[in-house]
Amino acid sequence: MKKLTILLLVAIFYGCKTPSSQKSVDEIDKKVDSLLSIMTLQEKIGQMNQYNGFWNVTGPAPNEGDAAKKYEHLKNGWVGSMLNVRGVKEVKEVQKIAVEQSRLGIPLIIGFDVIHGYETQSPIPLAEAASWDLNAIKKSAKMAAKEAAAAGINWTFAPMVDISRDARWGRVMEGAGEDPYLGSVIAKARVEGFQGEDLSNPLTIAACAKHFAGYGFAEAGKDYNTVDVGTSTLQNIIFPPFKAAIESDVKTFMNAFNELNGIPATGNTYLQRKVLKSEWNFNGFVVSDWGSIMEMTYHGYAANIQNAAEIAVNAGSDMDMESYAYVNHLYDLVQEGKVLETDINDAVKRILRVKFELGLFDNPYLYCDETREKEILGSKEIQDAALDMAKKSIVLLKNEGNMLPLAKNGQKIALIGALAADKNSPLGSWRIAAKDNSAVSVLEGMQQYKGNSLTYTKGADVYNGDTNFIFEVNINTSDTSGFSEAATAAKNADVVLMVLGEVGYQSGEGRSRTSLDLPGVQQKLLETVYQANKNVVLVLNNGRPLAINWAQENIPAIVEAWQLGSQTGNAVAQVLYGDYNPSGKLPMTFPKHVGQVPLYYNYKNTGRPGPKKEVFWAHYQDIDNEPLYPFGYGLSYTTFSYSNLKINSVANNKVSVSVSVTNTGKVAGKEVVQLYLQDVVASVTRPVKELKAFEMVSLKPNETKTITFTLTDKALGFYDNNGVFKVESGLFKVFVGGDSKNTMNTEFSLP
Ligand code: NOJ
Repeated sequence: MKKLTILLLVAIFYGCKTPSSQKSVDEIDKKVDSLLSIMTLQEKIGQMNQYNGFWNVTGPAPNEGDAAKKYEHLKNGWVGSMLNVRGVKEVKEVQKIAVEQSRLGIPLIIGFDVIHGYETQSPIPLAEAASWDLNAIKKSAKMAAKEAAAAGINWTFAPMVDISRDARWGRVMEGAGEDPYLGSVIAKARVEGFQGEDLSNPLTIAACAKHFAGYGFAEAGKDYNTVDVGTSTLQNIIFPPFKAAIESDVKTFMNAFNELNGIPATGNTYLQRKVLKSEWNFNGFVVSDWGSIMEMTYHGYAANIQNAAEIAVNAGSDMDMESYAYVNHLYDLVQEGKVLETDINDAVKRILRVKFELGLFDNPYLYCDETREKEILGSKEIQDAALDMAKKSIVLLKNEGNMLPLAKNGQKIALIGALAADKNSPLGSWRIAAKDNSAVSVLEGMQQYKGNSLTYTKGADVYNGDTNFIFEVNINTSDTSGFSEAATAAKNADVVLMVLGEVGYQSGEGRSRTSLDLPGVQQKLLETVYQANKNVVLVLNNGRPLAINWAQENIPAIVEAWQLGSQTGNAVAQVLYGDYNPSGKLPMTFPKHVGQVPLYYNYKNTGRPGPKKEVFWAHYQDIDNEPLYPFGYGLSYTTFSYSNLKINSVANNKVSVSVSVTNTGKVAGKEVVQLYLQDVVASVTRPVKELKAFEMVSLKPNETKTITFTLTDKALGFYDNNGVFKVESGLFKVFVGGDSKNTMNTEFSLP
């Protein structure tokens, strides 16, 4: 404990107690300055260095190779953070080395990808976004933070707030979809959920807005690919959720693998210094993405790793994740005058500040309580929240003839599809800390309803062998040997329930696709079963929008169930049986064909809108311009009607709009009332419509509620090509409805 003495002195010198994040900013700054003044340059650089977990920390210390070097660095105080060390026992061990063996004993900040839960998985973020339920999303992040914090983690690399319009990109599963407004309010909910009100509470963790910036616009939806976007898209589409995260006091940012308009994000001074740290006054720290400093050499932007370190730090990347660039080269770069020590000081202060705010200086083992870990991981509270979130994330896409909900008694149900019995795939892609095969499968969920007879038939495997985070999924494209058994099961049933779609590891990092069809032989299986029995309910599993035209044309009922996490089967069964009335709405447009992508609701009109009789308008010759399901779309077991859309007042850039919504069906339900605007003529062209507000209303049968939206500058304006925010006079169209297409319309003018 000797090494803690200096830190203790620092604290005593300023007479401060445990900081609670908001109150003691000045006190923390004083502590940080005081600590910085006794640090050597190499120790400062150490704070900017992050290593991946590199050996079994509960086993013997490594004595050769890279691991031994990292271990030495840890003891020297040359490591500021580690990722992928998890569980109280392991975290405690590494923290002990940093705190007890290094000269200053500065605690590590322990990072982990808590993307959709820690051990208990909540739905993938895209699915959660489909709930449009900000309280539920915030709670889900809070529960994830609680579980992760109880396992020793104090920093998550989430939320990912990248807007994306390209369903081919595997990482759409990790974000909130295509819309900057929805993306912004969800970013806020997630940051608040992770960080809570007091970061030094051992059940909250620091959040990280990522990937700054433009990663969701990877060309052709190919992960890591080049990004080239103009100012208008950058300012109005990509930036808003990042800004919202800052407004919610997010403590860290992660930069991105991609280059943006010719400059890799990691070495991008415009993004990190000008926009983030200067214009937006961000005072947390920026971590690089994994190896992204080194990767600037591959981008052809840095001559070698030393040059990459120089570029990254000068551009404002504060912490190096696994490039070894800072720890190996910053010292020399400062000596050579290529990097200023004042810039190093600034980066280190940012990092130390977050560590102080997390309470790590008062107690480096604050997050390391074994009793708490036992009590919290997988607890009922966390499982209940995961179930609640999972139900809210489900979207009913089609329900012809009210085929759903299913009758609870006397039915013969054939459940078909390998994914129906899969206990691993529903856990999704970022589920490193989850126990394998720990999800409640759809089969298990359905088995809890005893009034019907249920038979299960696989039909076909979706993949061959095993799936994991590292390697490509090997899709079954040939084995159809189970088809006839599936067809027989279907023939003998009253209702066929098919669970088809993507395996959890088909989306996520490095998982782009050129097809948006049901993978492998599943489309054929669906058609074969449909020939045997047309009463099919299709339950989709997927991490991205799919182009399921045939199903939409033929299958009477379709339920979008994404990858819903640990409680998948319970949530799906409750929705199918009507114990929960679905209210989810799509956060991303579903195309009819992959060739339409990028397809998004807030597109710009061309100079050749249509349709026209001749060919000279913006269209394809082989498919129309419409989506299969529009952004914001989702059905319920009841129906809603909209009436009385009114502009109540327009004054001083404040517009009041109201609308009445009635439940016209037979059961209670929730509707997400959405308001879109179009600025009809502007100095920079504006999209045909943009989501500006929404509200979820609960309505009993025959009940009507009137909702009033107040639109202010933020909703009415946009960023011009010089990055200046403007509200322009003229005509605005207003669209209100239950999705982005079926709306009531009115208009107003701003003087
Ligand atoms: C790379 C991913 O892009 C990033 O999102 C993640 O947080 C890091 N790896 C750490 O696992």
